[in-house]
Amino acid sequence: MDQPRKLHIKSFGCQMNVYDAQRMVDVLAPEGFVETATADDADLVILNTCHIREKASEKVYSELGRLRLARDEAAAGAGRRMQIVVAGCVAQAEGEEIVRRQPAVDVVVGPQSYHHLPRLLAEAKQAGRALETEFPVEDKFGFLPQPRPEAIRARGISAFVTVQEGCDKFCTFCVVPYTRGAEVSRPVAAILDDVKRLADNGVREVTLIGQNVNAYHGDGPDGRAWTLGRLLQRLAAVPGIVRLRYSTSHPNDVDDELIAAHRDLPALMPFVHLPVQSGSDPILAAMNRKHSAADYRRVIDRFRAVRPEIAFSSDFIVGFPGETEADFAATLALVTQIGYAGAYSFKYSPRPGTPAADMPEMVPAAVMDERLERLQQLIDAQQSAFNKASIGRTVDVLFERAGRKPGQIVGRTAYLQPAHVFPAPGTAPDSLVGQILPVRVDSLERYSLLGELAATPPQHARPLAATGA
Ligand code: SAH
Ligand code: SF4
Ligand code: F3S
Repeated sequence: MDQPRKLHIKSFGCQMNVYDAQRMVDVLAPEGFVETATADDADLVILNTCHIREKASEKVYSELGRLRLARDEAAAGAGRRMQIVVAGCVAQAEGEEIVRRQPAVDVVVGPQSYHHLPRLLAEAKQAGRALETEFPVEDKFGFLPQPRPEAIRARGISAFVTVQEGCDKFCTFCVVPYTRGAEVSRPVAAILDDVKRLADNGVREVTLIGQNVNAYHGDGPDGRAWTLGRLLQRLAAVPGIVRLRYSTSHPNDVDDELIAAHRDLPALMPFVHLPVQSGSDPILAAMNRKHSAADYRRVIDRFRAVRPEIAFSSDFIVGFPGETEADFAATLALVTQIGYAGAYSFKYSPRPGTPAADMPEMVPAAVMDERLERLQQLIDAQQSAFNKASIGRTVDVLFERAGRKPGQIVGRTAYLQPAHVFPAPGTAPDSLVGQILPVRVDSLERYSLLGELAATPPQHARPLAATGA
């Protein structure tokens, strides 16, 4: 047997990149690669990059500078050859520039082509370099090997599954339609297969991911296109799956079947990430969001009507070109009206090739800073009020892993709040992993809930390693 070769992969950006990184590991496992925690001892390093804002994008070049030094050291010291791959959205957007700015790069591969990694690595060994950023005609999912059962178990009880990729919305600030390509939905049968395999290997919570996940319209077994709501309904019936989530959704694609899924499926968590970006109608129009602030509020109301305990998070951009103080005040007003459990907010970053990058009236940096600060203060206050409201309540927690302190176990609530518990002496924390148990919340430590089990765990609780299969 050959010595296993070591692979280190570093991901930036969104959940889709986290998922893609795992699939790259799965693609390279049959080639004899095993993961390692640092770049220094790796034979292969993959940077899985994000292009969404300038800062994220520029990080690639500083990382590459460091990797070149590590590579030279490995060659000089142990005579080991380290290959360097740039994958993800920066690879797609500026592949040529990457190899020009950093000749140490062996392979550049876009997000739709990483199933070709074994071939590209071999080509690079022969030719010195390989670059693939075309959108291939075939669908990568048809070529990706299934993860090994040990890999699934090592990744824990919560898993991402890509069901939809790409975006046809073309918000004027956003690179995603260019880096990920057109919207494509995977067939229901393929997703069901993936979810069953995950459940058989101990996964209890699945988050369906897509750049625009509720635009899902994959082929169903009945020959029709299924909506996300219908897909969720089917997946809720998979034995072992106790929690379902989806991300990221767009307000314009919330349909009756998705609302019905929230009404009917206890496994579908009452926590939805629904980005709105701005509360000002003129700014929403300039962003090409194709909805008003009032439309967004109506969508929120539809969810709340069927699931009153539902909570929301969102993304916001401050300082979009032309944003006035009145526009920004409308954003603050919307946040105040909705009341979020949390939200991400970003300063607008002009991206090459997007329509907004050519818009005049850039908002001055100092104004952006000040608006970001005010928005974040409001969101922080809402988030901490939301978390404080849990104190004294009993909430369901899905336990994920042993905590850092001896005897402690860590899980998450329906709203993804981390919860830390010390079960009764004699209960091995591992025996609770994968179970949902009620926890009485006593206090908060920053963003985490601290509490006690409000019920005795089942006598025959089996450790994760013995579940499924
Ligand atoms: N598909 C998702 C998220 C896409 S990117 C959606 O439609 O909502 C994640 C977030 O990054 C966006 O919601 C937006 O808030 C932010 N973002 C995207 N482009 C940006 C830019 N050019 N400058 C600043 N923030 C940006
Ligand atoms: Fe980007 Fe808009 Fe598509 Fe989201 S919906 S990925 S923000 S273009
Ligand atoms: Fe970034 Fe690409 Fe995701 S640009 S946010 S990694 S889709």
